[in-house]
Amino acid sequence: AAVGKGNYRHFMEKELHEHPAVLGDTLRQYLDPGTLEVRLPRLPFDPAKVPRLTLTACGSAFLAAHVGRYWIEKLARIPCDADVASELRYRDPPLPEGGAAILVSQSGETADTMAALKLLKEGGQKVLSIVNVPESTMARSSDAALLTVAGPEVGVASTKAFTAQLAVLACLAVGFGRARKQISQVDEGRLTQALLSVPSFAAEILDRDAEIRALAAEVAKARDVLFLGRGSLFPIALEGALKLKEISYIHAEGYAAGEMKHGPIALIDSAVPVIALCPSGPLFEKTCSNLQEAAARGGRVMAFTDAQGAPALRRFAEHVIELPTVGAFSAPILHAIPVQLLAYHVAVLKGTDVDQPRNLAKSVTVE
Ligand code: AGP
Repeated sequence: AAVGKGNYRHFMEKELHEHPAVLGDTLRQYLDPGTLEVRLPRLPFDPAKVPRLTLTACGSAFLAAHVGRYWIEKLARIPCDADVASELRYRDPPLPEGGAAILVSQSGETADTMAALKLLKEGGQKVLSIVNVPESTMARSSDAALLTVAGPEVGVASTKAFTAQLAVLACLAVGFGRARKQISQVDEGRLTQALLSVPSFAAEILDRDAEIRALAAEVAKARDVLFLGRGSLFPIALEGALKLKEISYIHAEGYAAGEMKHGPIALIDSAVPVIALCPSGPLFEKTCSNLQEAAARGGRVMAFTDAQGAPALRRFAEHVIELPTVGAFSAPILHAIPVQLLAYHVAVLKGTDVDQPRNLAKSVTVE
């Protein structure tokens, strides 16, 4: 049956509001709320033995893979590569014997990712794909497929499928960590609990809609926007910039917060909003001081943080949006939502075709 917009103005808005349900459905596939353990299906490789993982995808799906790399390396200590699929082959990577790859795709039909799949299989890698469409070419051509339970995504800009991909990758990272004895049962319980809280935090974040709309009114006036994040929030800064470019046609760049001083700081003036993903935690101090440098040069800092981070940021930031305190592990999933919502509201204010932005297709089937 055809999917409708319900009471929403755009499919993208409807899909943004499906985050809590989709995250809940996806996490329930891979977590046991009773035992607080990760429950993975049979994988085509042994995570305890695999020497190296290649993560690859395109666009937002690649940014999910990029977060996945941070998680898997940290929790399971498996060396990972993360590359956009359209570049992987040109790097001609030396693929290890007994190695495996994780491919990420909403549609399961993206030509570049399919070309990477072929290369990886020819190179003897076992391929696990994370896809939203069970009957897709990618799901059928992989050694195994893990499904995101996001339902049909109609808006060209990926929203709920992206966070569902993150949810699956987070479960894999915990499962791999256990398989490699890098995390204890107590750690697994704590990480699982953090993931189980994600759907209700997602709902809380969606309740900040009016605040994000007010921020969007400022961002909509800009010609260029910088998104900054550190650690696993760096790929989310890239996602914020990608989404804004894609649907509002405002030029945006995502940068690792610490890299700003190596170049992009030259762009900063009072016309460039600097949108920071800066929750409290071990990376807060350094990111905060990067932002202070931007503010000292007249930059308009707009920060997403939490109750602990807010006071320090309020001293120099123009806007501070307080999100729930969620902990470093689930922060990338939960910070993706406000940056997507921000892009949505900016696009609505700019009057663009939100669900069908110019020059873009939902699934890119050419290389
Ligand atoms: C995301 O908002 C984009 N529309 C795009 O980057 C997309 O994520 C990319 O084309 C990959 O598509 P896939 O997930 O269907 O493979």
